This record gives sequence, structure tokens and C-alpha cells, in this order.
Amino acid sequence: MGSVWLNSVELPKYKKLEEDISTDVCIVGGGITGITLGYKLKKEGIPFVLIEKDMIASKATGHTTAKITSQHGLLYHYLQNAYSKEYAKDYLYANQEAIEDISRIVSSEKIDCDFVRQNSYVFTNDETKVNDIKKEFDVLSDIGFDAEIVNKLDISVDILSAIKFNNQAKFNPLKYIAGLLPHFSESIYENTVALDIKKNNNGFFIQTENGSCITCKKLVIATKYPIKDIPGFYFTKLYQETSYVLAITTDTKIDGMYISCDTPKISLRSATYNGKEVVLLGGENNRTGEKINTLNAYENLENIAKSLFNNYTVLAKWNTEDAISLDKIPYIGDFSKLYPNCYVATGFNKWGMTSSNVAANILFDKITNRENKYAYVFDSTRFHMIKNRKALSELIKQSVKGLLGDKLKVKDKNYSDLEKGSGKVIKENGKLIGVFKDNSGKLYKVNPKCTHLGCLLHFNRLDKTWDCACHGSRYQFDGTVIYGPSSRDLEKLD
Ligand code: FES
Repeated sequence: MGSVWLNSVELPKYKKLEEDISTDVCIVGGGITGITLGYKLKKEGIPFVLIEKDMIASKATGHTTAKITSQHGLLYHYLQNAYSKEYAKDYLYANQEAIEDISRIVSSEKIDCDFVRQNSYVFTNDETKVNDIKKEFDVLSDIGFDAEIVNKLDISVDILSAIKFNNQAKFNPLKYIAGLLPHFSESIYENTVALDIKKNNNGFFIQTENGSCITCKKLVIATKYPIKDIPGFYFTKLYQETSYVLAITTDTKIDGMYISCDTPKISLRSATYNGKEVVLLGGENNRTGEKINTLNAYENLENIAKSLFNNYTVLAKWNTEDAISLDKIPYIGDFSKLYPNCYVATGFNKWGMTSSNVAANILFDKITNRENKYAYVFDSTRFHMIKNRKALSELIKQSVKGLLGDKLKVKDKNYSDLEKGSGKVIKENGKLIGVFKDNSGKLYKVNPKCTHLGCLLHFNRLDKTWDCACHGSRYQFDGTVIYGPSSRDLEKLD
């Protein structure tokens, strides 16, 4: 089952780029960041093209829970402690302005996208977290932001404490995008994979998979995870997480947007799906590619649904990946100081709706040589000590394991015991082979080394994919790449 957004909104189809093209700006990535930036460039009259590897908004944007909020978990106490009060304040107001900018675009373009203002809440039912809520509230009060502490919610979830942000928003992201696309249809190309990016004297040269080339003066890499490694080195400061969502019908009304700061984390909001009111219940996060059993992810969410609602029916379920930055702040701005006129937006840490708007505004200002007062907060070339030591050591651990440790651990020499619908890595004559057996017994063999930087892949039985724990690339069972940073399929073996 796909997401409620992708299942219910049909976006226009766009042709593949078949000829060489020269333009001012090339945007790589047709998610909400690239689309919003395209909309703004078109309004300014700047020539550009936008290329998307698959279909517009078919990846992270099509699978989000689409909360438009500056409440990104419990972030502001961390930001003040790790950086400064001013820094926390500017992060907050960059995102508050994003809510208003989206609202303005919805009104001015008359986009019918179920945009509704709602309050958002981070809640806990864990005594050890109550003080974290209090600390978050204190920082926000100090900044002068109007948040509230409450000890009861309007929904049937027991809590000890929650922090409430007023006047946030939610929408249907596909309907929103459907309202933006007609403004620049002529600039969009789907099924166009950027295989190679090179700098030349006047800008950039992008080689696509089918041989066509784009020459541009300025380049924006707006893929969820940058498709170019050097000289940005984002693979040393990003990883990916998978999270799961159920869309359910129930008699219980959910008014507001909720997320817990407990373990397991849950997220709730309502939405309209094919004329019905549904509740989106999210949770069950894991690091993408981690060698864990994800088979029970939806079942675990259903158990949570059972505990919250008397009656419910699951209408849709899906999972998605998000790029997570080690220091909890998105990377928006110059790709690298060594690579002028190339820009990046990534590491939205699951808060892609406001972050994409913040990114579109900062990158628009970069492209048009304007000042942006929030750009320093998200500066993608920042080089400071990573305050989140746990995330840094986990990234290093996973990279070493994926590149070396896991490969040495492969002991299986054959796949005779492989169940239908499953896959595993074996070692045959000293060579690693990824084998998948489909339900008819047909075998698919691939080279199980990630085409990004060579980490060993794990088989994901839930989605029947080969997943990489190092930076989160994912491939179908037959080796076709689904999610980057990789842009190349796995080698198919006989
Ligand atoms: Fe980087 Fe696999 S995603 S090595």
C-alpha cells in the first residue's frame, strides 16, 4: 500500500530529458524543496530546469506526515546549550516564517490542499522526560516565543506533560505541489537521472543516464541525500532513518498534531483521504539498513492503535527514509567552499515541510545574490565540533562495520535453506553474493556491495529490498536503486 497522498492525488506526468540543454540554474531533485525553489525562480523570471530521477514527489515528499511546524521535537534547549540563545531563536523564527510563507503561497495561488491551522504538541508519559519539557519551555519563554505547558491532551493518550505550539499547520503535500507545478511545467523533466556532475569554466555540466547533458551556471542539489560526495563530504555527517505510518479510520477525532518524546515514539495527526477522515499514526523508527528485524514494524504500530482506539481499520501503510544530520540542524547553502555556485539542501531530520521552505528561501537568496538573515544557522559548510557525540560515534561505527566488519562475518556458503520471499548474503569461492528467492522460487543474485561507497548491504524482509546501513541507500531485490545517495543499480550476477 502507498501513502494516502500518493494514492489520492495524481500529479501531471513530465517527459524525460532527451536533448542537451543550457540554462541558468539546474535543480536536481523533484521533491518539495526543488519544487518550491522552482516556483520562486519562475516568479523571478530566472531560467532553470528541474530534473527528477523518478516521478515528482514520489519519495520523501510523498511519504511524509506533512506537519508544518517549527516544533521539531524537543530541539530548542539543545540548540541553546550547544550553540546560543540567538541561534535557537533564529532557527525557530526561520521555521515560523516558513509556516507563514506556505500559508501565503496557498492563499495567493488559491491552492486547495487541505491547509489547516492546528496546534502541535510534544508530549511525554515518562517521569524522566518531564523535566526536558520544562527545560524546553524555559528556553522558548526566554526567547519570547508563546509556547504553553499542558498536562492533559484533547486525545485519549495519557501524559504527564506536554509542550504546545499554537497556530501551526498541516496540509496535503501532493495537493500543494499540484498547485505549484503548473507555474513551470515547461522546466520539469522526470525519469532523468543525474549520473555525473562536473565543474567547467562557466558553471556545471550534468551528464544524465541516457546521455543528454545539462549545462548551467548554478546548480542546486535538492535530493533528500546529496547525490555528489566530493567535495561536500556529506556522507561523513549524515545518515538515514526509516519510519513507518498507518492511516486508519476510527471514531476518535484527532484535533491537533502530536508527537511523543518517549520510547517508542509515536506521532498522530488527522487527514482527509478519499473523502474520509483518517488518523495518521507514525512511529517505529530505525536506522535505515540496520541489521534488525523490521518485519514487525506495522504490527507494533497496530498494537499502539489498539491501545488508543476502540475500533479502527487500516486503510494504508507505508514507510519512508529521512536524512538525519549529526548535529540536528539541516545543511542548507553552499555545497562546499571549494565548489562555488553549487548549493545543497539536506538533513531535514524528518521535519521536511518547514525545512524545505526555509531551504527554498535561503537558496533563492543565494542564487539571486541577496542576504538571508537565517542562512548562517543552516550554513552547510559549517565546521564545528559535533555536539551530538552519540550520533557521530554511531555513524563511524556503522561505516566501519559496513565497509569491513560485516563482510568478514559472512559465513553462509550456500542458500539452500533460503525461504521464499527472503534474501541473504553468502560467500561463494571467496566472493560475496546477495541472493533473493521470490515466491515462485526464482533466484535473483546481485553484488551486495553498495554502489555508493561499497558497504555491505542487508536484506530487508519487510520491503524485499537490499539496504545500506552506512548512509541509507536502498535497492529493490533485483538490484535496481530506489533511494540514494547511490544513483547506480547493483551489479546483477548470473
Ligand atoms: Fe553509502 Fe551505501 S549508502 S555506502
